[in-house]
Amino acid sequence: MKILAIETSCDETAVAVLDISGDLGAPKVSVLGEALYSQAEKHAEFGGVYPNLAKREHQQNLVPMLREALGGGFAISNDESLISKQDTNSRIQKEKIEMVETILVREDVLREQTVSFLKEVGMPDIDAIAVTQGPGLEPALWVGLNFAKALSLAWGIPLVPVNHMEGHILSVLVQNRKEISNDESLISRQLEFPAIALLVSGGHTQLVHAPELGTYTIIGDTRDDAVGEAFDKVARLLDLPYPGGPQISSLAEKTRPEHSHILENTRMTDTEKVSFPRPMINSNDYDFSYSGLKTAVRYFVEQRQPLSDELKMEIAREFEDAAIEVLITKTRRALAEFTPKALIVGGGVIANKHLRSELEKLIAEFPDITLHLPTGKLATDNAVMIGIAGALHYQKHPQEFTVATADPTTIPAHGGLSLEK
Ligand code: KG4
Ligand code: ZN
Repeated sequence: MKILAIETSCDETAVAVLDISGDLGAPKVSVLGEALYSQAEKHAEFGGVYPNLAKREHQQNLVPMLREALGGGFAISNDESLISKQDTNSRIQKEKIEMVETILVREDVLREQTVSFLKEVGMPDIDAIAVTQGPGLEPALWVGLNFAKALSLAWGIPLVPVNHMEGHILSVLVQNRKEISNDESLISRQLEFPAIALLVSGGHTQLVHAPELGTYTIIGDTRDDAVGEAFDKVARLLDLPYPGGPQISSLAEKTRPEHSHILENTRMTDTEKVSFPRPMINSNDYDFSYSGLKTAVRYFVEQRQPLSDELKMEIAREFEDAAIEVLITKTRRALAEFTPKALIVGGGVIANKHLRSELEKLIAEFPDITLHLPTGKLATDNAVMIGIAGALHYQKHPQEFTVATADPTTIPAHGGLSLEK
């Protein structure tokens, strides 16, 4: 099937068109077109994601990005044969345009662009439209959701709402072939169930038990800040620009080889040592807490002003060690208790090199469990993972998904949407 996917849950605007076929457990996925735009630089001056800016950016970017994603030479065409009979019937066209205008009533720029786009192009060869319904920033989610609804209604194509976190889980189903050869296409992987998923993003830190594809129980969650949020906040304490995760990660990285050298050859004195707590590491559950760790960094930073570059690196490394040690310890315990066949790790923080290498070490302790990590651009927010999750649900229960209506109470954006049904 061909599926159009739209993701606007945070500060990435993403659109993708996928062709998905074969077994649901290891689908064959081709990316027919893709457009991804990160607004991170624009949010940097606010030190974090500014919801109204995210909303405005999504509104301005969606139509040009849809054109780009559909421009792969297959979908949009003014060729009469690709324009459905309904769309050439001006009466229906007019009614539909009016409904599109109702759906996008609050989205000024997007409404105008969408209407002129719909009038200009024919109907694309797409079977379903997947869109992130939540979790995320509601003002941002609404933009993508309303846009997807407008397209669904105008083109008569079913709408498939997707949970962003399930997208992160299923992002591991495909692997960038480029990492193996020079080929840009994706190859699929077979996921084994039951699985444990560790989700680590800007909004979530969760351990999830999945007895089968598409069924999830949250066994552990953060009690306060998410791990990605802690990376971003600590980065701010060190005067590093948003998004802080990658910044902390590369600072810490610099100290690692050097650090092991120091540890092996000289003994560090206590005054040079930076040490932060590992919150809840020994608690008898799978929950996390990152706000205390951030506070510990803040106290330390306040006492040691001005920070030398070396000290900043040490802080970044020790913070990264502390944050990741808790993730690894809790995940180890979940693997031992649930004895799954697979460990899946998804969410933006999995872009972190140290986390990846600690997970490789962890999985070596469990020879019967396969580790699945997302590759390349699929680690952070993207529309490919939303398309994969959408296609999976659509193929399982096609009758459950219908063309969108102009009624905003059906399929609303849901900032706190849970993975559990
Ligand atoms: O999944 P994602 O792209 O968006 C959300 O759904 O939240 O995750 C974004 C989070 C941010 O907090 C960002 O700082 C963090 O992932 N992140 C990283 C790295 N790259 C992104 N954290 C640590 N190390 C990284 N290399
Ligand atoms: Zn995400």
